[in-house]
Amino acid sequence: MCGILGYTGDHQASEILLSGLAKLEYRGYDSAGIAILDGDKIKVEKNKGRLQALEEKIKDRDVAGTCGIGHTRWATHGAPSDLNAHPIWSDDMTVVAVHNGIVENYRELKEKLSGHGYKFYSQTDTEAAVKLIDYYYKQEKDPMKALISAIKEIEGSYCFVVLFQDHPGEVWGVRKDLPLIAGQGEGESFLASDVSAILQYTKQVYYLDNMEIVQLNKGVVRFFDMDGYAKPKELSEVTWDAQAAEKGGFEHFMMKEIHEQARAVKDTFGAVYHSGAINLNEIGLTDDIIKSTSQIYIIACGSAYHVGAVAQYVIEDLAHIPVRIELASEFRYRNMPTDKNALAIIISQSGETADSLAAMRKAHEHGIKTLGIVNVVGSTIAREADSVFYTMAGPEISVATTKAYSAQLIACYVIAMQFAKVLGTIDDEKYESMLTEIQKLPEKIDAILDESGVLKRVAARFVNAKNAFYLGRNIDYAVAMEGSLKMKEISYLHSEAIAAGEMKHGPISLIEKGMLVAGIMTQSNLYQKIASNMLEAKSRGGYIFIVSTRGCEALKDEADFIFHIPETDEHFAASLAVIPLQLMGYYVAVARKLDVDKPRNLAKSVTVE
Ligand code: F6R
Repeated sequence: MCGILGYTGDHQASEILLSGLAKLEYRGYDSAGIAILDGDKIKVEKNKGRLQALEEKIKDRDVAGTCGIGHTRWATHGAPSDLNAHPIWSDDMTVVAVHNGIVENYRELKEKLSGHGYKFYSQTDTEAAVKLIDYYYKQEKDPMKALISAIKEIEGSYCFVVLFQDHPGEVWGVRKDLPLIAGQGEGESFLASDVSAILQYTKQVYYLDNMEIVQLNKGVVRFFDMDGYAKPKELSEVTWDAQAAEKGGFEHFMMKEIHEQARAVKDTFGAVYHSGAINLNEIGLTDDIIKSTSQIYIIACGSAYHVGAVAQYVIEDLAHIPVRIELASEFRYRNMPTDKNALAIIISQSGETADSLAAMRKAHEHGIKTLGIVNVVGSTIAREADSVFYTMAGPEISVATTKAYSAQLIACYVIAMQFAKVLGTIDDEKYESMLTEIQKLPEKIDAILDESGVLKRVAARFVNAKNAFYLGRNIDYAVAMEGSLKMKEISYLHSEAIAAGEMKHGPISLIEKGMLVAGIMTQSNLYQKIASNMLEAKSRGGYIFIVSTRGCEALKDEADFIFHIPETDEHFAASLAVIPLQLMGYYVAVARKLDVDKPRNLAKSVTVE
């Protein structure tokens, strides 16, 4: 979704803004723009399309100045166009702002402002908000008071970063339910949607709370509450380094992140494994809480939901506690009887996904304890959850998640193991063997990557394919969902994951000659079941692509291609089986010459419904 940036300091703002916006490109966008407050005038440059087009355009323009704001827009209200691109200005261009999110009551605001003589030039919801801020600024002559009055009237979720022409060297901001952080450097300060945009300049950041006003001056950052009183705030140090957000020699971030999975898995496990034992007290899962938990809800979207699907099988099997997985977008609007002794686990890489956040708040309303499994430190879900398990994936730039998915799996395994241990549903021997095995996953992931070159050749067969099926049962079905999503989201090859037993109930009619039918076979008690389903697909012309555990003999003569993964405890098999599936999606997308890291219509962090 949109990326936002503000800067004030001694450097040319346009350069800082363009390089910072480039770091936010991964969020997804269709237009870009900057505004520079130079002395007492504001200059705006913006256009539809990529940042490079903006860079090209401003080469010969006057964009000098050391204070400014920038934006990459992902269109919601109004098509991508030069006019709808941000920054958006007031009628007299004295108040100029960039905005993420949605102003839900923009029609009413427009009507009110039209009554006061305001004219509207764009189709955006943002323009109503900017002109409302301007309306109050003209009365109050004070940026803070204008922002407070305006946001009391604006409905929706948003983050605004604003320049006022009469306040040179100052950048103002406010957020509600969308991320905004402030960075403090030597003689300069920043506002940004996420840390990756400013990491190369500073690691000292403030995380803004909802409805908090922030004012930037060179090297000074101040916060105010909704009554206009100054608020003290703690500075945090970001541990990610700037290199982590670079491609590091790989052609795409996705490939780099696929190769970072062993490290992400190791570090995530290492975060809760100290002196030879797992300790979940720090993430709020004391033995007493585990014992009093009667039910678990796992709530998430997209790939994070697929992690939940794996976790459901693993937790139920190991800890014998009922687990429901819920799509956050459904959970938030469903009326269902809930159990006060339940634990809701919200899984989210970004920690900002609008549906996951809303679902978590709903769980709170029902009096249910929440645990966030979150990657981005200081994100809204991390701050609002009762407790947090931070995954240690590091910044994930590619829109299609890989290393965060793998890190989330580890967090879920550890929770499953601990529940099982405390509830006495597995014995010490099993627990110890799982502890040993989970620590071997990183080297096994790397071993798979070493042997994965062959997948590039197989993927080339499907460069013109139209449809694919991914089949599995139990944990393998959960992995199939993720493999199928990886294929469709970056290669645009229509793909469906199907619980293999459902094939005969309809989907089998779609199988055509040469169609990719991927089967996941890591659960030994189900080898023969899935083998039968795959043979049915083969006899109808499907290309049988198997990911199975070494040692599984099923289909060795019938499959068109088999990729073997190392043996592991079968509860952990998803961590290995997903790797070749990520690579298949990647290689098909590359063969189709697509923008792997920024697939069309998708955004990294889905901060609107
Ligand atoms: C797919 C993908 C998405 C996210 C989903 C949730 O590759 O990345 O499906 O998993 O949008 O995002 P988070 O985890 O940030 O809540």
